Amino acid sequence: MSVTPAERKPIISAADFDLSDYDFWARPMPEREHAFQLLRDLEHPAFYEEMELTYAPKGPGYYALVKHADILEASRNPEVFCSGEGGATNIPDMPPEFTEYFGSMINMDDPRHARLRRIVSRAFTPKMIKQFEADVDTAAARIVDDLIAKGSGCDFVTEVAAKLPLKIICDMMGIPEKDYGTVFDRSNMILGGFDPEYGGEDMSTIAEKLLTAGMELQQLVQDLAAQRAEHPTSDLISSLVNANIDGEQLTAQELGSFFILLVVAGNETTRNAISYGLRLLTQNPDQRALLLEDLDGRLPGAVEEIVRLASPVNYMRRKVTRDHEMNGQLYRKGQKVVLYYWAANRDARVFPDPFRFDITRSPNPHVGYGGPGPHFCLGAHLARREITVMFRELLRRVPQIEGGSPERLYSSFINGIKHMKCEF
Ligand code: HEM
Repeated sequence: MSVTPAERKPIISAADFDLSDYDFWARPMPEREHAFQLLRDLEHPAFYEEMELTYAPKGPGYYALVKHADILEASRNPEVFCSGEGGATNIPDMPPEFTEYFGSMINMDDPRHARLRRIVSRAFTPKMIKQFEADVDTAAARIVDDLIAKGSGCDFVTEVAAKLPLKIICDMMGIPEKDYGTVFDRSNMILGGFDPEYGGEDMSTIAEKLLTAGMELQQLVQDLAAQRAEHPTSDLISSLVNANIDGEQLTAQELGSFFILLVVAGNETTRNAISYGLRLLTQNPDQRALLLEDLDGRLPGAVEEIVRLASPVNYMRRKVTRDHEMNGQLYRKGQKVVLYYWAANRDARVFPDPFRFDITRSPNPHVGYGGPGPHFCLGAHLARREITVMFRELLRRVPQIEGGSPERLYSSFINGIKHMKCEF
C-alpha cells in the first residue's frame, strides 16, 4: 500500500476517491461503504480511468454501475453488455497468454458460452446436488468435530470456512486429498494475488505468478483427465472428458480453464460468505437469537441475507458492443461498465434499511450470485447448501461461537476475509 492511513484524504464527496487507485481498496469498510453510498446518490454513474499495468495496455476506462436497477438491466442484456471481449473477471482486457488458463465460460459470450454451460451444467442441477447433500453433511460434521477438538481461539477461516468448499469441490472433481493444499494455495494466488500474503504488490511479478498458478492447476487436471479417460469413475472430470449423451465433450484447453474457474469460483466465494456469516451473527446477537429459535425454518433466509451483505464477488465487468442508452445514460460502443454487486446489494431503493442484517428480510432480491442473465452463478445451489449446512452444524453444536475482528484480503475483486479468530 503506497499511502498510510494518516495520509489518506477523507471522503466527503465522490471526487475524493478513485476506484482504480488500489489504495482505495485498503480503506476500512465503513469508508468504502460511505464512498459507494456517494456513488449511488449520483444521478449518473461515475466514470474512472483504468490504471497503468505492466502486462496489459491501458484501456478506455469504465463506468461504475452501483444501482440495483442498472445491474439488473446490464445483466439481462448480454448482447449489449458482453463478457467476452477481454473478460468479465478483470477490468483491463485480459492479455492473450492468460486466456489459456483463465478464458473459461465466465469470460465468453453465446454461442461459445452456451455450449460450455450446457455441457457442464448437468453437474449442477438441484437433482445432482442432492447426491452431494450427504457428502456436505458429513464433511461439515467432521469440520465441527475438529474445531471442537482444537478448541476456542483458532482461525475460523482456515479451520472451518475454507475447508468445506475445498473438500466438496475437490470431491466433485475427483481430486485426491494430497492435492487439496495445491488447489487451496493456487486459488488464493489467482484471486488474492495483490495481497502481500499471497502474491505481493509488485506488478511486474504478479502476471508471472498468476500464469504459474494457472499452469499448475491445469497440469493437475490434465493428469487426472488422462487417468479418467482410461478408467472413468463417477466424478465430474470423468463426465467432462468422456462424451455425454449428445456426443459433446470438452477439449483439453476447455477442460483446463473450466477446472480453474470452478476451483477458484467454488472456493474463494463460499469461504468468504461463511466467514462473513459468523461475523454478522457475532455483531447482531438479536439476529442470532432469532435464528436459534427456529434454526431450520430461518436458515434459508439467513443464508440469503449473509450473501447479500457479504457479496463475496465484488464485481464483474462488461464491454459495450453498440451505442446504447440505459436508465438515462448513454453508453458508447467499446466502453466498459463494472457491475458492483456489493454496492447494488446496499441500494436503499430495493433494500429498506440496507445496512441492517435482517435474517427475515423478504423479498431479498440480492445480486450476490450475479444478475439475471446467461452468466448467473452456476454454483448457487451448491453454495446455498454448503453455507446452510455449515451454519446448521455450527449453531447446533457451538451455538454461541463468535468471530473476532476480521483480517481482510487486499483486493478490489473479492470481498475476502483471510483470517478471523473464533471463540466458543
Ligand atoms: C457464495 C458463493 C458464491 C458467490 C457469491 C458467487 C458469485 C458469482 C457471480 C457474481 C458470478 C458471475 C456472474 C456474471 O458474470 O454475471 C458467478 C458465476 C459463476 N460461478 Fe459462482 N458464486 C458462488 C459460488 C460458486 C460455487 C460454489 C461454484 C462452483 C462450484 C461457482 C461457480 C460459478 C461459475 C462456473 C460461474 C460462471 C457461470 C457462467 O459464466 O455461465 N460459484 N458466481
